[in-house]
Amino acid sequence: MMRARSERFAPAGSLRGTLTPPPDKSISHRAAIVAAMGEGETVVRGYLDAADTRATLEAMRSLGADVSAGDDGRPDLRIRGVGLRGARPGRLIDVHNAGTLMRILPGWLAGQSHGQWTLDGDESIRHRPVDRIVEPLRLMGAEIGARDDRLPPLTVRGSELRGIEYRSPVASAQVKSCLLLAGLLADNPTSVIERRPTRDHTERMLRAAGAAVITEDAGTPVTVHGELPARRVTVSPAGTLEPGEIPIPGDFSSAAFLIVAATLVGGSEVRLEGVGINPGRIGLLGILTRMGAAVQVVETAAAGREPEATIVARSGPLQGTRVGGGEVPLAIDELPLIALAGCFAEGETVVGGAEELRHKESDRIATVVEGLRGLGSEIEATDDGFAVTGTNGLRGGRIESAGDHRLAMLGAIAGLASSEGVEVEGFDTAGVSYPGFGADLATLVSRASGAST
Ligand code: S3P
Repeated sequence: MMRARSERFAPAGSLRGTLTPPPDKSISHRAAIVAAMGEGETVVRGYLDAADTRATLEAMRSLGADVSAGDDGRPDLRIRGVGLRGARPGRLIDVHNAGTLMRILPGWLAGQSHGQWTLDGDESIRHRPVDRIVEPLRLMGAEIGARDDRLPPLTVRGSELRGIEYRSPVASAQVKSCLLLAGLLADNPTSVIERRPTRDHTERMLRAAGAAVITEDAGTPVTVHGELPARRVTVSPAGTLEPGEIPIPGDFSSAAFLIVAATLVGGSEVRLEGVGINPGRIGLLGILTRMGAAVQVVETAAAGREPEATIVARSGPLQGTRVGGGEVPLAIDELPLIALAGCFAEGETVVGGAEELRHKESDRIATVVEGLRGLGSEIEATDDGFAVTGTNGLRGGRIESAGDHRLAMLGAIAGLASSEGVEVEGFDTAGVSYPGFGADLATLVSRASGAST
């Protein structure tokens, strides 16, 4: 077996420069799936070329979609779809490390008129729950099973689906998206009620492809800082989807590592262009602003149906903060970065209501707490998050990525901001979402100080 590559990140003098983060991973997965469900050819402008999204393209090919590179040398793709009910039956689908593929795709497959598919993936995927989609899909009439009814591999057989109203017990865009895709194939409208709203990329993309998707306020709006009101999302059955063209903005969750790096490393100023700022993704900006960080959103625009912007981040002192409630889903993939920022803040930083972190590419409550503690931080795990006591810095040392791309990148940023540097074991796993991460960091660091990462 190949040994995972380790990489050392030395303390940086400062980070300066301008970058465009890689295309959005969440939106890329959806673009490939919706294009495969579509009629005719869809052009995906700027598809993410990373391990996770390559798994989705492989899956779409195995279901009969024709995927080819664009002809103008840009990272564009042309995808000829098989139509809403035309998925090719009978294949084992390897999702590799991609939880989004594992949890969204069964919605489409469940409504096929015939065929059976088994979805499986790597060791990490095999520990991530799928009961959250198995249960509501069964309520829709789907024939679906999983190991212990809870974990992959997951097997789904095409059948007739009925529309339901589903109050999701977990705030999950993956669950919502899965049910919306199934709802396109059901006999009646399907509604998903989200007490805590999540990213709405699927809704925007389906609407742009001609589907009837309605979003309404549901119940009393939650009023805590930064939250969105509770929502009901309803999709009507559809005959066809015609996506036409899908532009992909830069990934906010990738940009987030550079934003936090610039915030923590003294003398830094980093400008990030073309960053997607979907309201369901940018909770980190509100949290950092509350901590006193100098992060500005400038020059907003719309890439198709998704808003995008330039973000400028500068270094500065931070105060501790509390994160919880409806803010959690809006920053779910950035909470490890809040823990790191908390190490540099004055006072305590507490993240609660985030038990979902236990079901990510690793148990991110355990891996973040162990990882940062090993670098010298005063951090404690709680059942649903963590509490960090800021010590105005971090010593450094060695951190294990645990096969989790966001932990690998967290370790790298910790190294730049630390006093002694950080060795990241298994750094290559960053390629799951951001293959050029190390190189991008190196351009920002070397411009300032000549230090190498
Ligand atoms: C994602 C939704 C989130 C997020 C994941 C990507 C998506 O997961 O953590 O990285 O693309 O819909 P949940 O839906 O499980 O919260």
